[in-house]
Amino acid sequence: MTDKILLLSGDGIGPEIVGATERVIHALGHKYGYSYDLEHSLLGGCAIDADGDSLPQKTLELAKEADAILLGAVGGPRWDKVERAIRPERGLLRLRAELDLYCNLRPAVLFPALVNSSSLKSEIVSGLDLMIIRELTSGIYFGQPRGVEIREDGERYGYNTLTYTETEIERIVRSAFEIASKRSGRLCSVDKANVLEVTELWRDIVTEVSKDYPAISLEHMYVDNAAMQLVRDPKQFDVLVTSNMFGDILSDLAAMLTGSIGMLPSASLDDAAKGLFEPVHGSAPDIAGQNLANPIATILSLSMMLKYSLKEPDLAEKIEQAISTVLDAGLRTADISLADESTVGTDEMTTAIIDAMK
Ligand code: IPM
Ligand code: MG
Repeated sequence: MTDKILLLSGDGIGPEIVGATERVIHALGHKYGYSYDLEHSLLGGCAIDADGDSLPQKTLELAKEADAILLGAVGGPRWDKVERAIRPERGLLRLRAELDLYCNLRPAVLFPALVNSSSLKSEIVSGLDLMIIRELTSGIYFGQPRGVEIREDGERYGYNTLTYTETEIERIVRSAFEIASKRSGRLCSVDKANVLEVTELWRDIVTEVSKDYPAISLEHMYVDNAAMQLVRDPKQFDVLVTSNMFGDILSDLAAMLTGSIGMLPSASLDDAAKGLFEPVHGSAPDIAGQNLANPIATILSLSMMLKYSLKEPDLAEKIEQAISTVLDAGLRTADISLADESTVGTDEMTTAIIDAMK
């Protein structure tokens, strides 16, 4: 069967890292006979420039038809003044919502070769392998009402609304229990139930769902403490599950434990495990177009796509092996290099990974 993959390069370094990953897809074809069909479309700032909308109808249609979607990154200072409702980031949020990609998996895995690239001491992070599961289509990112207005006395005020329904909480929590069952059997649910009613509901539902998973050891933690614990002793965690905004913040934090946010992939899945796969990092406009970006987070996102959506775990394994090989051999892009190490660019790193694919 031929997999239909939609590529959305997006903005900033997006075209370089998606271009790099496209080369890896071609290599899967040459080396292992992988059969695929690629489409390209626009999302984010580039789509605003071309179509006046960050999520053009055509992109949405192609996304619905595809078996899986690979995204680079969206946004940049160039579109900061664009009307809020069509900003690049809104296009991405709408795509997540339209496709009901509520289950966001953000693994933070430290490659042994990078143990000294982390800002934390090597003994604290060596062997780190944790999975953050973030609810992605509800919470404060989507709650109504929202806006910025002017009061009668002339004072401006802004507001957003944090809402979750029972159903929305239950489905992400069940995904988390399922994933924890396939890993170490430990799950930590992160909330702010001491202050926010909606996360009190979150905590209640986690406790209810846990009755169906007696073998899982469950812990609840407030988000401020979780942030501290992630830096103090990250290996105490295996799977974390949390709401949209807490997950956004904690996943950037977890990324730094692994040395660079340039290393971390993500999967955003619907109920049928169809998904959008993207690096956790942003569009990095400051280094765009200079062959400096680390392509590994995007190439690892392809590997997650092969594993979770396209049911090609062996191909995913080949990619991960190749990345380990080049890192063990000392290849470094600027973001993961130490002061005295020489570095390679996006293209050289990609070529090395392809060459290392057995
Ligand atoms: C992420 C990003 C996005 C988010 C932005 C670009 C809208 O930070 O995927 O973590 O906040 O979800
Ligand atoms: Mg983020």
